[in-house]
Amino acid sequence: MKTIGIIPGSLRAASFSKKVGNALLGMAPEGVTFKIISIEGLPVYNQDFDDHGPLPESYAAFRSEIKALDGVIFVTPEHNRSVPAALKNAIDVASRPYGKNTWSGKPAAVFSNSPGALSGFGANHHLRQSLVFLNMPAMAQPEVYLQHINKDFDESGKLINDDTRKFLQKAVDAYIAFFNKNTP
Ligand code: FNR
Repeated sequence: MKTIGIIPGSLRAASFSKKVGNALLGMAPEGVTFKIISIEGLPVYNQDFDDHGPLPESYAAFRSEIKALDGVIFVTPEHNRSVPAALKNAIDVASRPYGKNTWSGKPAAVFSNSPGALSGFGANHHLRQSLVFLNMPAMAQPEVYLQHINKDFDESGKLINDDTRKFLQKAVDAYIAFFNKNTP
């Protein structure tokens, strides 16, 4: 059994990224588990925690959680045309201490979304820049930009846009093929 982490890049309770993440849970093929990974409760990264301690318990737990994954799908919103600070922070936390980058080698996909028309394009590509340094191969195609995401869910948080559902399933299927190619 392979485990893929779905990481919504938002802390907001009613986050659309969390709703997209939840919608992905039912799209995993046989032999693969999709698991939501929360980025909540991580203090802003400070290298002193690693160099001198004490290490926040949340850091140790998050690093173990990422280490245990086989792959990652990031579902990122966009803040000021870039990756939200909370998501960047989580990435930084699990990339350290130096030499213990827990992301390394895990095949990734980046799904960006926005209530606006530009679909988080800026965040999507800034995130890809970090993935290169983290040594995470990232799926190139299909690119996943979800615009007007606020219109895709009902009040209970259920995905009600069939076109979005079909596109997400296509993207997940492509990611699984990419994952299999990039997994020893
Ligand atoms: C935003 N938002 C936003 N949207 C966008 O498409 N491009 C952007 O650059 C920004 N910038 C931005 C900055 C900050 C500080 C906030 C709080 C918001 C709006 C954003 O897309 C919207 O709040 C989403 O709902 C955030 O994603 P979640 O929390 O719904 O997953």
